[in-house]
Amino acid sequence: MDRIRITGGQPLHGEIEIGGAKNAALPLMASAILTPQSLTLENLPSVADIHAMGNLLAELGAEVKIDAVGRRVTISGENLTETTAPYDIVRKMRASVLVLGPLLARFGEARVSLPGGCAIGTRPVDLHLKALEQMGAVIELSGGYINAHVEGRLKGTHILFPMVTVGGTENILMAAALADGETVIANAAREPEVTDLARCLQAMGAEISGIGSDTLHVIGVKELKGATHSIVPDRIETGTYAIAAAITGGDVLLKGAEMANNEAVFGLLKRAGVDVISNDAGIRIKRQNGRIRGVDVMTEPYPGFPTDMQAQFMALLSLADGASMITESIFENRFMHVPELLRMGANINVHGSSAIVRGVGRLSGAPVMATDLRASVSLVLAGLAAEGVTDVNRVYHLDRGYERIEQKLAACGAIIERVSA
Ligand code: UD1
Repeated sequence: MDRIRITGGQPLHGEIEIGGAKNAALPLMASAILTPQSLTLENLPSVADIHAMGNLLAELGAEVKIDAVGRRVTISGENLTETTAPYDIVRKMRASVLVLGPLLARFGEARVSLPGGCAIGTRPVDLHLKALEQMGAVIELSGGYINAHVEGRLKGTHILFPMVTVGGTENILMAAALADGETVIANAAREPEVTDLARCLQAMGAEISGIGSDTLHVIGVKELKGATHSIVPDRIETGTYAIAAAITGGDVLLKGAEMANNEAVFGLLKRAGVDVISNDAGIRIKRQNGRIRGVDVMTEPYPGFPTDMQAQFMALLSLADGASMITESIFENRFMHVPELLRMGANINVHGSSAIVRGVGRLSGAPVMATDLRASVSLVLAGLAAEGVTDVNRVYHLDRGYERIEQKLAACGAIIERVSA
């Protein structure tokens, strides 16, 4: 199995191109199910999860043409007739559950393997299912599958999510676009990826208002049409490379990155002593004077600090001057990077959903591995700053969400390579 080998200690200098957001692209691809016409998505990231979603849609009968050079995908749901999302695909990518709402809305039936547990907690989909039931779906769980059907069309209704769920909001937003009447989604997720989906659905002919707020109003239409949509820049890739620049004491321009969707992360980076400068080309991140300062971090739904940046920030703060408290409020069990950072010399104590990070003067390279995407990348970041060689195993986690990570970092002076076992 491949691993990433890093010889740490090189300050990064140069430019890194930020791609389209994986977490926006996945629901956008699923939304192609809603129409027999073609949906073209531009600024498509080339990461493993995107190919997995492409395979799932092809399995359902859609025509999926990925143009890697042009960074776009065109999906035609004209001959899409299959309504089962099989276990073998869903178990590899939880976001497969995003086909549930669109399949049910267009075909009146869907059979989707239950995603089950994952490395960052139990992550149920009960809220997706309850909301679809409120819209008239009959749902039964058997044989490890969600079996859902509806007589006629789904019905618009008032849905109040008891907690903020990104995937739940996206599934219901897509389902509501073709439902009969008005759906109100209260306590909706406001993540930029949800907003991006809503804008694409509008371009496809959906009637949605309240976009960007926590209450979405959707008036169902009889059919949706094809559209072309450009995917928002990836705020998590942006934040990850911002930390790569900061943790190595470098100076990097993140090309195409936006300030707007990333204020919580950039705000904390500034408080930690990092320069964050916005210009026409993107965002420049620079730390050249002194050590990082300890800051407290609490993950929250957007616009709060994203849980998908928690592990990377912990790597940074493990080298801070002073102590930091990091509280994870979205997922249980999302501190799996801690034991690996400890093996690199970090000083971190976990108490329930909080971690106390006491900054150390240096980390040392070690063989490490992680069980999820963001935990893995936090070890890459720690390796960039550590003394000596770090081998990050289980590279397939990184490949799920980071495009050409070793090339992007190497272009800025990192000593990093992919080693085949
Ligand atoms: C999405 C992102 C993921 C990110 C997360 C939170 C994608 C493909 N993934 O995941 O990278 O970390 O948002 O920003 O966009 N919950 C329930 N029942 C449900 C649904 C969720 O209890 O039916 C809980 C979850 O276990 C979790 C919390 O709600 O504790 C938030 O989860 P959710 O926002 O749904 O995350 P995802 O959409 O799975």
